[in-house]
Amino acid sequence: MERGLQDRDRVGVQDFVLLENIQSEEEFIGNLRKRFQENLIYTYIGQVLISVNPYKQLPIYSENDIKEYRNKHFYEMPPHIFAVTDNAFRSLIEENKGQCVLISGESGSGKTEASKKVLQYIAACSGHQSTVESVKEKLLKSNPVLEAFGNAKTNRNVNSSRFGKYMDIQFDFTGTPIGGHILNYLLEKSRVVNQNAGERNFHIFYQLLAGASDEQLRELQLTRALDKYSYLSDGQNGAVRGIDDAGDFKTVQQAMSVIDFKQSEQSDIFSIIASVLHLGNVSFAEVEGVAKVEKAAAVASVAKLLGVSENELNAALTNRTIDARGDVVTSPLNRDLAIYARDALAKAIYDRLFTWLVQRLNKSLVAKDLRSAINNVMGILDIYGFEIFKKNSFEQFCINFCNEKLQQLFIELTLKSEQDEYRREGIEWVPVEYFDNKVICNLIEEKYRGIISILDEECLRPGEPTDITFLAKLTDQLAKHPHYICHEKSSTQVQKTMGRDEFRLVHYAGDVTYNVNGFLDKNNDLLFRDLKETMSKASNEIIRSCFPEGEYKNKKRPDTAITQFRNSLNNLMDILMCKEPSYIRCIKPNDQQQPGIFDDELVLHQVKYLGLMENLRVRRAGFAYRRTYETFLNRYKSLSKSTWPSFKGPAKEGVRILANDLHFGPEDFRLGETKIFIRFPRTLFDTEDAFQAKKHDIAAIIQSRWKGYVQRRKYLKLREQIIILQSYCRRHLAIQALQRRREAATKIRAFIKGFITRNDPPNGYNEEFIANMKRMWLMRLAKQLPTKVLDKSWPPAPVHCQEASTYLHRLHRLHLARKYRLSLSSERKRQFELKVLAEKLFKDKKANYLASVPYWFQNDRIPQEHAAEINSFVSTSLNGESLKYASPCTKFDRHGYKPRERFMLLSNKALYVLDGKSYKQKHRLPLEKIDFVTTNHSDSLLVIRIPLELKKDKGDLILEIPHIVELGTLVVDTVGTANIFSIVSRDSLEHNVVKGKGGVIDIQTGGQPGIVRDKGGHLVVIAGQ
Ligand SMILES: Nc1ncnc2c1ncn2[C@@H]1O[C@H](COP(=O)(O)OP(=O)(O)O)[C@@H](O)[C@H]1O
Ligand SMILES: [Mg+2]
Repeated sequence: MERGLQDRDRVGVQDFVLLENIQSEEEFIGNLRKRFQENLIYTYIGQVLISVNPYKQLPIYSENDIKEYRNKHFYEMPPHIFAVTDNAFRSLIEENKGQCVLISGESGSGKTEASKKVLQYIAACSGHQSTVESVKEKLLKSNPVLEAFGNAKTNRNVNSSRFGKYMDIQFDFTGTPIGGHILNYLLEKSRVVNQNAGERNFHIFYQLLAGASDEQLRELQLTRALDKYSYLSDGQNGAVRGIDDAGDFKTVQQAMSVIDFKQSEQSDIFSIIASVLHLGNVSFAEVEGVAKVEKAAAVASVAKLLGVSENELNAALTNRTIDARGDVVTSPLNRDLAIYARDALAKAIYDRLFTWLVQRLNKSLVAKDLRSAINNVMGILDIYGFEIFKKNSFEQFCINFCNEKLQQLFIELTLKSEQDEYRREGIEWVPVEYFDNKVICNLIEEKYRGIISILDEECLRPGEPTDITFLAKLTDQLAKHPHYICHEKSSTQVQKTMGRDEFRLVHYAGDVTYNVNGFLDKNNDLLFRDLKETMSKASNEIIRSCFPEGEYKNKKRPDTAITQFRNSLNNLMDILMCKEPSYIRCIKPNDQQQPGIFDDELVLHQVKYLGLMENLRVRRAGFAYRRTYETFLNRYKSLSKSTWPSFKGPAKEGVRILANDLHFGPEDFRLGETKIFIRFPRTLFDTEDAFQAKKHDIAAIIQSRWKGYVQRRKYLKLREQIIILQSYCRRHLAIQALQRRREAATKIRAFIKGFITRNDPPNGYNEEFIANMKRMWLMRLAKQLPTKVLDKSWPPAPVHCQEASTYLHRLHRLHLARKYRLSLSSERKRQFELKVLAEKLFKDKKANYLASVPYWFQNDRIPQEHAAEINSFVSTSLNGESLKYASPCTKFDRHGYKPRERFMLLSNKALYVLDGKSYKQKHRLPLEKIDFVTTNHSDSLLVIRIPLELKKDKGDLILEIPHIVELGTLVVDTVGTANIFSIVSRDSLEHNVVKGKGGVIDIQTGGQPGIVRDKGGHLVVIAGQ
């Protein structure tokens, strides 16, 4: 709603509770008027909505307005039917309480419009799935169909509902409509055959004639001219300004398609409508008291459209068959009865078609899932309003009775129950007086004594009951009743205002004078058996199903119309009683159906009979809001620290604390037995506002919990995934480890096997081991190789390396030797050559050879003190020969073996012997002439054999020389042949002394080595061990 409109809404008071003088009807009406003139048609009395019919379209029902009212608090927005609906809808969804919206008011006050607004709001603010859309569409489209067939123009309302309607909308738990169900109440079927002046038949007749195509009309054998049909009594005046019959016909057809009416059903329906029109045109002539059909063509049309035999229909219209205890008697009808029969048939056909329509609608509205809809039902009651016409008949009686019942319900649910509640809750309370219409209800429906009982009794009575006898009986029994006024027993003043065939009831809404004519017939609702039978054979399926065969065969008398109506009303009351009601009280501002006119008197009358003043007084004295302690505490506990998050003690105590903490004034509220009562809406708003503000804090808590929860869920999921991942990794690693270990084990096993069989010839087991062993051995060997040529050690080798080892050993030794050799100096090399030569000469041949091995040979053994003399001899007397060896020695004389000191020099050509003192040459012995002899013992004896030609030397030379091996070697080296030096292995040695004479030298071992002359004159050489 626009802001501007809201501001204008400050006109008067939005809620009558705020009215200053609640006793003043004037002020009450004044407020309504003021608002009405500003197009503010809605005003509250507490939760009850008062709606004044504006008789013009107001821009307050748009989509935007719906949005404005959605989920707002009732009192937050200006009064509106949407607010009431929203309130009910939310109670339904949030508290799961069945709801009903009761719309009351007199005819033309806007009930049907209001019910449509309620439906519009619900359709707009509920779910939007496609299935829901179709349910909503059907709910919405059921209206035009029902209105076309059940509404008519009356003098009070151009679109007056001529039936009562209670529609249940079923919701699922989310508030989405999933189905619906319609109950219809007593259609005013007399309208089919007869209408008051200025009124019309049901819309559908006019719609069909105006809207159907020419071809369709031809098929239905109709023409557009309204005055051709006697049931359309208004004739051409039937076309009413403001009603677009042709357009409405299209709407109806569209709606029928939406509700899944099959094409055949639609054509059946229109055939029936047409047949009713034709039936109206059937007229009768009377010949000798027997009726005859005058316009056969009309009957033929009816027969054709309904699919019945024309003859049979003809007969049924003019005859009556009575089954009296097995005796079936058929008698002809007179003209009046024939007309009665015809009208009864037309009414029955139309009435039953209407009921069929409602059932058909219900079939298409049925909820798929009925279980979930059980509690979530919102009912909308739009029933004909209280009616006062110039001439009121049975229908008005029924309608007004219905309104009495509804008023009773209103009293029960608001005035009475409210006051009862205060009493029950122990709230101090001054009772408000109100008129309880129970007395009128009783007057009408009381058993045995009520009008209904009397009427039924009269209908069933044998004999000749008439409307007049019925009236007489009424007067007889009820004349004293304060709400019953009869002509007979009234003052003349009153008698002037009513006829003799009338009675008057003082209804809660005003006095209504009923004309008893037709009461009995209408109550009996008699349709002759012949007609029922004919209809039951119709080929039109709807007609056939509306007139079941069983019906005319059933002898039991059906309930009278009023009893049926009363029963269905009581049923309705039961349905409504168990729901939470929302009231919309419709008020009609004028009788002219004109915008802008506010007839104070007319409105005041309605205000009075609707009990609005009492309603206001109860409301004002009472409390705007009440809730059980539990509910209240539960909603608002977050507003006090002591009650949040949960209060331990009794709920009442909690509410008391809460009220205290919220600073409620002492007059603002009362604490009852089970409920808190809050007097002014303002107090509640403030509380609610505080709660709405607080909600954010609570939302933050919920959010944090939720976020925590979501994060934790995420974390847990992640963790789970990680664990899975980990387990895969671990598995993988474990498998790897296992493989490694297995490989290792295999290796170790192979190694051990290899080790065990390492000495076996290579085979599958030990091959690798051996290879490895060889490798290892080689590596080890490389580090342990002997480095000295004399070091003959060699690391041990495994079996399989023996050969290689030996080979390597040899190689290595060669290598060492070579290295050694290469590193030798020439001097040293020479030494070695000499040593090798010495070995060849003396090894195993002379005992003192071994002792000579460790010492290098020397060329010069001359002691230091003799060196100069010897050197001078060498440089002067050696004749260019090179000196090879020089050593002191001892010479034993050939005779007497006297030792003499000498020096011996060896040149490359000769051996020189020098005197030990004078250093004079004693001998020069050329090497090619002499040879040397020595023994194999370890002595130092050397015998030099001198050939004869050199005998001037007087025989062989016997010498003792300190380094005999050294000398021997050098001599052989110098000469180049070993022949010159011989070693004898004898214990004595002969030598040539002179001239062939020889001496002997004995050789002994043991004792101190040396050379001595023994007693026998022999030279004894004592060799060392
Ligand atoms: N809220 C409204 N806005 C505009 N016109 C309305 C409104 N309520 C009722 N009317 C007018 O009043 C007429 C009668 O209303 P309706 O609902 O048929 O009355 P009821 O069902 O009470 O007999 C409607 O045809 C319409 O023209
Ligand atoms: Mg209506």
